[in-house]
Amino acid sequence: MMETIVSGMRPTGNLHLGSYFGALKNFISLQENHNCYFFVADYHSLTTHPNPKDLHYNVRTILAQYLACGLDPQRSTIYIQSEVPETCELYMFLNMNAYLGELERVTSFKDKIRQNPNNVNAGLLTYPCLMAADILIHRATHVPVGKDQEQHLEMTRDFAGRFNRMYGVDYFPEPVAYNFGNELVKVPGLDGSGKMGKSETEGNALFLVDDPSVIRKKIMRAKTDSGPTKEREPMSQEIDNLFSLMRLVSSKDKVEFFEKKYNECSIRYGDMKKELAQDMVNFTLPFRERILDIEKDELYLKKVVSQGSEKARDSAQKTIREVREIIGFKPF
Ligand code: TRP
Repeated sequence: MMETIVSGMRPTGNLHLGSYFGALKNFISLQENHNCYFFVADYHSLTTHPNPKDLHYNVRTILAQYLACGLDPQRSTIYIQSEVPETCELYMFLNMNAYLGELERVTSFKDKIRQNPNNVNAGLLTYPCLMAADILIHRATHVPVGKDQEQHLEMTRDFAGRFNRMYGVDYFPEPVAYNFGNELVKVPGLDGSGKMGKSETEGNALFLVDDPSVIRKKIMRAKTDSGPTKEREPMSQEIDNLFSLMRLVSSKDKVEFFEKKYNECSIRYGDMKKELAQDMVNFTLPFRERILDIEKDELYLKKVVSQGSEKARDSAQKTIREVREIIGFKPF
Protein backbone atom coordinates (compact mmCIF):
# COMPACT_ATOMS: atom_id res chain seq x y z
CA MET A 1 0.00 0.00 0.00
CA MET A 2 1.17 3.52 -0.78
CA GLU A 3 1.28 5.14 2.63
CA THR A 4 2.36 8.69 3.29
CA ILE A 5 5.21 8.84 5.76
CA VAL A 6 6.69 11.83 7.56
CA SER A 7 9.72 12.02 9.78
CA GLY A 8 11.67 14.91 11.23
CA MET A 9 15.33 14.90 12.17
CA ARG A 10 16.66 17.24 14.80
CA PRO A 11 19.76 19.16 13.69
CA THR A 12 21.92 18.07 16.60
CA GLY A 13 25.47 17.16 15.74
CA ASN A 14 26.77 14.08 13.99
CA LEU A 15 25.02 10.81 13.25
CA HIS A 16 26.34 7.83 15.16
CA LEU A 17 26.07 4.13 14.56
CA GLY A 18 22.99 3.98 16.78
CA SER A 19 21.15 6.59 14.71
CA TYR A 20 22.07 4.68 11.57
CA PHE A 21 20.84 1.26 12.65
CA GLY A 22 18.04 2.63 14.83
CA ALA A 23 16.38 4.96 12.36
CA LEU A 24 18.14 5.80 9.15
CA LYS A 25 18.39 2.30 7.78
CA ASN A 26 14.63 2.03 8.17
CA PHE A 27 14.03 5.37 6.44
CA ILE A 28 16.11 4.18 3.53
CA SER A 29 14.04 1.04 3.10
CA LEU A 30 10.78 2.98 3.44
CA GLN A 31 11.55 5.30 0.57
CA GLU A 32 11.57 2.36 -1.85
CA ASN A 33 7.81 1.93 -1.83
CA HIS A 34 6.20 4.74 0.14
CA ASN A 35 5.48 8.40 -0.31
CA CYS A 36 8.06 9.77 2.13
CA TYR A 37 8.73 13.23 3.51
CA PHE A 38 11.91 13.69 5.52
CA PHE A 39 12.78 17.08 6.90
CA VAL A 40 15.29 18.81 9.14
CA ALA A 41 13.35 20.09 12.14
CA ASP A 42 14.99 23.48 12.51
CA TYR A 43 11.91 25.27 13.89
CA HIS A 44 11.85 22.73 16.69
CA SER A 45 15.43 23.47 17.57
CA LEU A 46 14.52 27.07 18.48
CA THR A 47 13.08 25.92 21.81
CA THR A 48 16.65 25.89 23.08
CA HIS A 49 17.72 29.16 21.37
CA PRO A 50 20.67 28.05 19.23
CA ASN A 51 23.28 30.62 18.34
CA PRO A 52 22.39 32.12 14.91
CA LYS A 53 25.92 31.37 13.74
CA ASP A 54 25.43 27.66 14.49
CA LEU A 55 21.88 27.16 13.27
CA HIS A 56 22.57 26.99 9.55
CA TYR A 57 25.72 24.95 10.02
CA ASN A 58 23.85 22.37 12.12
CA VAL A 59 21.07 22.06 9.55
CA ARG A 60 23.54 21.68 6.73
CA THR A 61 25.59 19.07 8.58
CA ILE A 62 22.66 16.86 9.42
CA LEU A 63 21.29 17.16 5.88
CA ALA A 64 24.64 16.15 4.35
CA GLN A 65 24.89 13.20 6.70
CA TYR A 66 21.41 11.90 5.93
CA LEU A 67 22.05 12.22 2.21
CA ALA A 68 25.40 10.46 2.56
CA CYS A 69 23.66 7.57 4.28
CA GLY A 70 21.24 7.04 1.44
CA LEU A 71 18.22 9.27 1.81
CA ASP A 72 17.46 9.78 -1.84
CA PRO A 73 16.00 13.06 -3.11
CA GLN A 74 14.76 11.24 -6.24
CA ARG A 75 12.62 8.90 -4.17
CA SER A 76 11.71 10.99 -1.12
CA THR A 77 10.83 14.58 -0.49
CA ILE A 78 13.71 15.90 1.58
CA TYR A 79 13.33 19.41 2.91
CA ILE A 80 14.07 21.96 5.60
CA GLN A 81 11.14 22.65 7.89
CA SER A 82 11.65 26.42 7.93
CA GLU A 83 11.38 26.52 4.13
CA VAL A 84 7.79 25.37 4.43
CA PRO A 85 6.20 28.16 6.50
CA GLU A 86 2.73 26.66 5.90
CA THR A 87 3.74 24.41 8.79
CA CYS A 88 3.47 27.46 11.07
CA GLU A 89 -0.03 28.26 9.99
CA LEU A 90 -1.22 24.74 10.74
CA TYR A 91 0.69 24.86 14.03
CA MET A 92 -1.27 28.00 14.96
CA PHE A 93 -4.59 26.38 14.05
CA LEU A 94 -3.71 23.32 16.14
CA ASN A 95 -2.69 25.50 19.08
CA MET A 96 -6.26 26.83 19.21
CA ASN A 97 -7.58 23.35 19.95
CA ALA A 98 -4.86 22.08 22.26
CA TYR A 99 -5.53 22.22 25.99
CA LEU A 100 -3.09 23.46 28.58
CA GLY A 101 -3.75 20.40 30.75
CA GLU A 102 -2.85 17.86 28.10
CA LEU A 103 0.25 19.79 27.04
CA GLU A 104 1.50 20.06 30.61
CA ARG A 105 1.13 16.31 31.06
CA VAL A 106 3.55 15.44 28.21
CA THR A 107 6.53 13.51 29.54
CA SER A 108 9.10 15.25 27.34
CA PHE A 109 7.80 18.65 28.55
CA LYS A 110 8.03 17.59 32.18
CA ASP A 111 11.57 16.33 31.60
CA LYS A 112 12.57 19.59 29.92
CA ILE A 113 11.26 21.82 32.68
CA ARG A 114 12.98 19.70 35.26
CA GLN A 115 16.29 19.98 33.38
CA ASN A 116 15.91 23.66 32.51
CA PRO A 117 13.60 25.37 34.99
CA ASN A 118 14.74 28.75 33.68
CA ASN A 119 13.64 28.16 30.11
CA VAL A 120 10.04 27.03 30.23
CA ASN A 121 8.88 28.77 27.07
CA ALA A 122 5.60 28.41 25.20
CA GLY A 123 7.38 26.72 22.29
CA LEU A 124 8.43 23.92 24.58
CA LEU A 125 4.87 23.57 25.85
CA THR A 126 3.40 23.44 22.35
CA TYR A 127 6.14 21.26 20.86
CA PRO A 128 3.55 18.49 20.29
CA CYS A 129 1.42 20.91 18.24
CA LEU A 130 4.36 21.75 15.99
CA MET A 131 5.20 18.09 15.57
CA ALA A 132 1.55 17.36 14.79
CA ALA A 133 1.63 20.16 12.21
CA ASP A 134 4.70 18.56 10.59
CA ILE A 135 2.84 15.31 10.23
CA LEU A 136 -0.65 16.54 9.38
CA ILE A 137 0.55 19.13 6.86
CA HIS A 138 1.11 16.18 4.46
CA ARG A 139 -1.85 14.24 5.86
CA ALA A 140 0.54 11.44 6.71
CA THR A 141 -0.72 8.01 7.69
CA HIS A 142 2.48 6.65 9.24
CA VAL A 143 5.39 8.00 11.23
CA PRO A 144 8.53 5.93 11.88
CA VAL A 145 9.15 6.85 15.51
CA GLY A 146 10.98 5.30 18.40
CA LYS A 147 9.57 4.77 21.88
CA ASP A 148 10.49 8.30 22.99
CA GLN A 149 8.18 9.87 20.39
CA GLU A 150 5.13 7.66 20.88
CA GLN A 151 3.37 10.09 23.17
CA HIS A 152 3.82 12.92 20.67
CA LEU A 153 2.32 10.74 17.97
CA GLU A 154 -0.61 9.89 20.18
CA MET A 155 -1.27 13.60 20.62
CA THR A 156 -1.09 14.07 16.87
CA ARG A 157 -3.89 11.53 16.59
CA ASP A 158 -5.86 13.38 19.27
CA PHE A 159 -5.43 16.69 17.48
CA ALA A 160 -6.38 15.20 14.11
CA GLY A 161 -9.47 13.52 15.51
CA ARG A 162 -10.48 16.64 17.41
CA PHE A 163 -10.20 18.78 14.29
CA ASN A 164 -12.28 16.31 12.30
CA ARG A 165 -15.01 16.16 14.95
CA MET A 166 -15.04 19.89 15.55
CA TYR A 167 -15.72 20.62 11.89
CA GLY A 168 -17.64 17.47 11.09
CA VAL A 169 -15.17 16.34 8.47
CA ASP A 170 -13.05 13.31 7.80
CA TYR A 171 -10.05 15.29 6.67
CA PHE A 172 -6.96 14.33 8.64
CA PRO A 173 -5.96 10.67 8.90
CA GLU A 174 -4.98 9.63 12.44
CA PRO A 175 -1.35 8.66 11.87
CA VAL A 176 0.12 5.57 13.47
CA ALA A 177 3.67 4.49 14.20
CA TYR A 178 5.35 2.62 11.42
CA ASN A 179 6.09 -0.74 12.88
CA PHE A 180 9.40 -2.28 11.94
CA GLY A 181 8.65 -5.44 13.88
CA ASN A 182 11.80 -7.28 14.82
CA GLU A 183 14.00 -5.30 12.48
CA LEU A 184 15.04 -3.01 15.32
CA VAL A 185 18.59 -3.86 16.32
CA LYS A 186 20.41 -3.15 19.48
CA VAL A 187 23.33 -0.74 19.19
CA PRO A 188 25.14 -0.45 22.51
CA GLY A 189 27.73 2.17 23.32
CA LEU A 190 31.34 1.62 24.29
CA ASP A 191 31.20 2.65 27.94
CA GLY A 192 29.77 -0.62 29.17
CA SER A 193 26.35 0.81 29.89
CA GLY A 194 23.23 0.90 27.75
CA LYS A 195 22.69 2.22 24.28
CA MET A 196 24.87 4.35 22.07
CA GLY A 197 24.14 8.04 22.43
CA LYS A 198 26.04 11.24 21.93
CA SER A 199 25.01 12.61 25.32
CA GLU A 200 26.55 9.71 27.21
CA THR A 201 30.19 9.67 28.24
CA GLU A 202 32.89 10.86 25.89
CA GLY A 203 33.95 8.07 23.56
CA ASN A 204 30.73 6.12 24.02
CA ALA A 205 29.46 6.78 20.50
CA LEU A 206 31.03 5.97 17.15
CA PHE A 207 30.18 8.67 14.64
CA LEU A 208 29.88 7.87 10.95
CA VAL A 209 32.11 10.84 10.17
CA ASP A 210 34.83 9.77 12.64
CA ASP A 211 38.32 9.42 11.24
CA PRO A 212 39.50 5.76 11.19
CA SER A 213 42.12 6.51 13.83
CA VAL A 214 39.38 7.85 16.12
CA ILE A 215 37.21 4.78 15.58
CA ARG A 216 40.17 2.54 16.43
CA LYS A 217 41.04 4.50 19.52
CA LYS A 218 37.47 4.48 20.84
CA ILE A 219 37.11 0.75 20.33
CA MET A 220 40.49 -0.11 21.85
CA ARG A 221 39.46 1.93 24.90
CA ALA A 222 36.01 0.33 25.25
CA LYS A 223 35.21 -1.08 28.66
CA THR A 224 35.86 -4.79 29.18
CA ASP A 225 36.00 -7.06 32.22
CA SER A 226 38.80 -9.19 33.60
CA GLY A 227 37.86 -12.15 31.41
CA PRO A 228 35.88 -15.38 31.86
CA THR A 229 37.19 -17.76 34.51
CA LYS A 230 34.99 -20.76 33.86
CA GLU A 231 33.58 -22.34 30.73
CA ARG A 232 30.43 -20.75 29.33
CA GLU A 233 30.39 -18.02 31.92
CA PRO A 234 27.50 -15.58 31.34
CA MET A 235 28.79 -12.40 29.70
CA SER A 236 29.06 -9.09 31.50
CA GLN A 237 27.25 -6.13 29.95
CA GLU A 238 30.53 -4.71 28.57
CA ILE A 239 31.45 -7.88 26.73
CA ASP A 240 27.93 -8.50 25.52
CA ASN A 241 28.04 -4.97 24.08
CA LEU A 242 31.24 -5.71 22.16
CA PHE A 243 29.69 -8.83 20.68
CA SER A 244 26.55 -6.88 19.71
CA LEU A 245 28.69 -4.35 17.87
CA MET A 246 30.64 -7.10 16.18
CA ARG A 247 27.40 -8.70 14.97
CA LEU A 248 26.58 -5.46 13.16
CA VAL A 249 29.77 -5.16 11.13
CA SER A 250 31.77 -8.41 11.21
CA SER A 251 31.27 -11.75 9.50
CA LYS A 252 29.31 -14.50 11.24
CA ASP A 253 32.42 -16.66 11.27
CA LYS A 254 34.39 -14.07 13.13
CA VAL A 255 31.69 -13.59 15.75
CA GLU A 256 31.45 -17.36 16.26
CA PHE A 257 35.23 -17.64 16.52
CA PHE A 258 35.35 -15.16 19.40
CA GLU A 259 32.27 -16.65 21.05
CA LYS A 260 34.02 -20.00 21.07
CA LYS A 261 37.15 -18.41 22.49
CA TYR A 262 35.07 -16.75 25.18
CA ASN A 263 33.35 -19.97 26.13
CA GLU A 264 36.71 -21.74 26.32
CA CYS A 265 38.12 -18.91 28.46
CA SER A 266 40.90 -18.34 25.97
CA ILE A 267 39.64 -15.05 24.58
CA ARG A 268 41.98 -12.07 24.38
CA TYR A 269 39.87 -8.95 24.34
CA GLY A 270 42.66 -6.98 22.68
CA ASP A 271 42.56 -9.33 19.66
CA MET A 272 38.80 -9.12 19.47
CA LYS A 273 38.89 -5.33 19.63
CA LYS A 274 41.48 -5.13 16.89
CA GLU A 275 39.27 -7.18 14.59
CA LEU A 276 36.19 -5.21 15.56
CA ALA A 277 38.02 -1.92 14.99
CA GLN A 278 39.09 -2.95 11.50
CA ASP A 279 35.61 -4.14 10.50
CA MET A 280 34.09 -0.99 11.97
CA VAL A 281 36.46 1.18 9.94
CA ASN A 282 35.55 -0.79 6.81
CA PHE A 283 31.93 -0.09 7.58
CA THR A 284 32.15 3.60 8.49
CA LEU A 285 34.83 4.83 6.10
CA PRO A 286 32.61 4.88 2.98
CA PHE A 287 30.07 6.93 4.96
CA ARG A 288 32.76 9.30 6.15
CA GLU A 289 34.00 9.82 2.61
CA ARG A 290 30.53 10.48 1.23
CA ILE A 291 29.74 12.87 4.09
CA LEU A 292 32.89 14.90 3.44
CA ASP A 293 32.18 14.97 -0.30
CA ILE A 294 28.58 16.09 0.11
CA GLU A 295 29.44 18.69 2.75
CA LYS A 296 31.77 20.30 0.22
CA ASP A 297 29.23 20.20 -2.59
CA GLU A 298 27.46 23.52 -2.18
CA LEU A 299 25.66 23.21 -5.51
CA TYR A 300 24.29 19.76 -4.85
CA LEU A 301 23.00 20.71 -1.39
CA LYS A 302 21.37 23.80 -2.81
CA LYS A 303 19.63 21.78 -5.50
CA VAL A 304 18.40 19.13 -3.07
CA VAL A 305 16.99 21.75 -0.72
CA SER A 306 15.29 23.85 -3.38
CA GLN A 307 13.70 20.87 -5.13
CA GLY A 308 12.64 19.23 -1.87
CA SER A 309 11.20 22.37 -0.39
CA GLU A 310 9.23 23.07 -3.54
CA LYS A 311 7.67 19.60 -3.47
CA ALA A 312 6.94 19.88 0.24
CA ARG A 313 5.36 23.29 -0.21
CA ASP A 314 3.06 22.01 -2.95
CA SER A 315 1.74 19.42 -0.57
CA ALA A 316 1.59 21.83 2.38
CA GLN A 317 -0.17 24.58 0.42
CA LYS A 318 -2.86 22.19 -0.70
CA THR A 319 -3.53 21.17 2.91
CA ILE A 320 -3.59 24.76 4.14
CA ARG A 321 -5.98 25.76 1.36
CA GLU A 322 -8.36 22.97 2.32
CA VAL A 323 -8.00 23.54 6.06
CA ARG A 324 -8.79 27.24 5.67
CA GLU A 325 -11.89 26.36 3.75
CA ILE A 326 -12.98 23.84 6.41
CA ILE A 327 -12.42 26.38 9.19
CA GLY A 328 -14.51 28.91 7.30
CA PHE A 329 -12.02 31.40 5.92
CA LYS A 330 -13.30 32.60 2.58
CA PRO A 331 -11.62 34.77 0.01
CA PHE A 332 -13.37 38.07 -0.62
N1 TRP B 1 10.42 15.20 17.83
C1 TRP B 1 11.27 14.43 16.97
C2 TRP B 1 12.56 14.07 17.74
O1 TRP B 1 12.81 14.62 18.78
C3 TRP B 1 11.63 15.16 15.71
C4 TRP B 1 10.41 15.51 14.92
C5 TRP B 1 9.89 16.75 14.74
C6 TRP B 1 9.58 14.60 14.23
N2 TRP B 1 8.79 16.68 13.95
C7 TRP B 1 8.56 15.38 13.63
C8 TRP B 1 9.59 13.20 14.05
C9 TRP B 1 7.56 14.79 12.87
C10 TRP B 1 8.58 12.63 13.30
C11 TRP B 1 7.57 13.40 12.71
O2 TRP B 1 13.30 13.23 17.29
